[in-house]
Amino acid sequence: MTRGIGRRHLLTTGAAAIGGTAVGWGTRGVVDDPAAPAAAAAEATPAVLGGDVEPFHGVHQAGITTVPQAQTSLLGLDLLADPDAPGAPVDLDGLARLLRLLSDDASRLTAGGGALADTEPELAVRPARLTVTFGFGPRVLASLRPAYDPGLEPLPEFAQDALDPAWGQTDLLVQVSSDDPVSVAHARRMLLKDAAPFTRTTWVQEGFRRARGSDPDGTTMRNLMGQVDGTVNLPTADQGRLLWSTGRAAGFDGGTFLVVRRIAMDMVDWDRTDRVAREFSVGRRLSDGAPLTGGAEHDEPDFEATDASGFPVIDPASHVRRARSDDPEQQFLRRGYNYSLPTGETGLLFLAYAADLARQFVPVQARLDELDLLNEWVTAIGSAVYAVPPACVEGDFVGREMLGLPPPTVSGSAVPTPTTPTSPNGDTP
Ligand code: HEM
Repeated sequence: MTRGIGRRHLLTTGAAAIGGTAVGWGTRGVVDDPAAPAAAAAEATPAVLGGDVEPFHGVHQAGITTVPQAQTSLLGLDLLADPDAPGAPVDLDGLARLLRLLSDDASRLTAGGGALADTEPELAVRPARLTVTFGFGPRVLASLRPAYDPGLEPLPEFAQDALDPAWGQTDLLVQVSSDDPVSVAHARRMLLKDAAPFTRTTWVQEGFRRARGSDPDGTTMRNLMGQVDGTVNLPTADQGRLLWSTGRAAGFDGGTFLVVRRIAMDMVDWDRTDRVAREFSVGRRLSDGAPLTGGAEHDEPDFEATDASGFPVIDPASHVRRARSDDPEQQFLRRGYNYSLPTGETGLLFLAYAADLARQFVPVQARLDELDLLNEWVTAIGSAVYAVPPACVEGDFVGREMLGLPPPTVSGSAVPTPTTPTSPNGDTP
């Protein structure tokens, strides 16, 4: 027997739907004023942001200083073994072919078009600020270009870490970010499909922030411990010097280094901790991220201030006190994402970009490893570092110069290299 939907049912639910919409439009004269529904609808309809595009080509790769998108997917790839040289990854030619393919995919997808052999190009039309950022792990450069040294070293061991090899170092990193999870999923599928003949997907780490539009633009994110996280970050004025590489190695000017740390949070114990202790551990208020010495979020903490009993208001072992240095070199760009698994594992994908990890990042990490009240609840369970090449120009591919390969030719002449910024990603190195 076929079950039909009754006419009466349609009429009543239809009316309810219309009523519901009218309520959604607001209460101002929706019925009486003929011009009101359109005006109210325009007011109630949020702007469609899916068409927003972040340029793929330029001087620096997109996805680093790009205002963080709502979603990220980090793909940790290992090159497959070279059949001709057991123990070694695929050769330089193979890697170049892979990067050419992936750069082409990324340039098309980020512009809102399908990848070359895209079977679902409709899924690509809303990039929502999609960026695809590539990085090389230490083994790739050491084994394929032994004489080439941009200065990428594995991090030293830290006593507080409890590293799980499942989230460890990989040969390549592809960071896929967008404000729209569908764009991320589609781009990731296209990239992994093309990478499959060359690589194994060792891990995928998914991260998120609030959806774009949930908070006013410029609001600092909150991590899943509820803290305002990202208030003090590398100032734009210092990015030229402390973010982008200059003069380290051929083809690396305008590139940078990336640290990926998967940091698990003990939410069971955090839930048992009262608000005073929670705020004390960081040195900032949970409500608005302001320092415990008062003021607003972006006001300077007063590390000298004491309470009525003479104790420091911001504990010397608090996270902000330990993370801060008098040495202006010890700064980096933090660009973290939350993660939360259905199993209950919760944490932060801590991403830090810097021009020199040994000088800028390692001393801060070592200080926090030695003493940080926050360590009671947070533990790094994954860790990896990457050299992130500069961006490429149209027709070229990311990382080519670092691999020591000649530029592609267009009708007999080499593709021009940008010397001046060409896009929002093109701040001079
Ligand atoms: C899950 C782990 C972590 C959590 C929950 C966390 C949370 C926070 C919070 C709430 C702040 C204060 C607001 C702000 O300025 O952003 C902060 C500041 C900071 N954190 Fe973390 N953090 C974590 C791991 C790390 C790690 C691994 C590093 C570096 C090795 C780091 C470096 C910093 C720095 C440099 C600051 C700014 C300090 C300043 O005021 O000068 N954090 N973090």
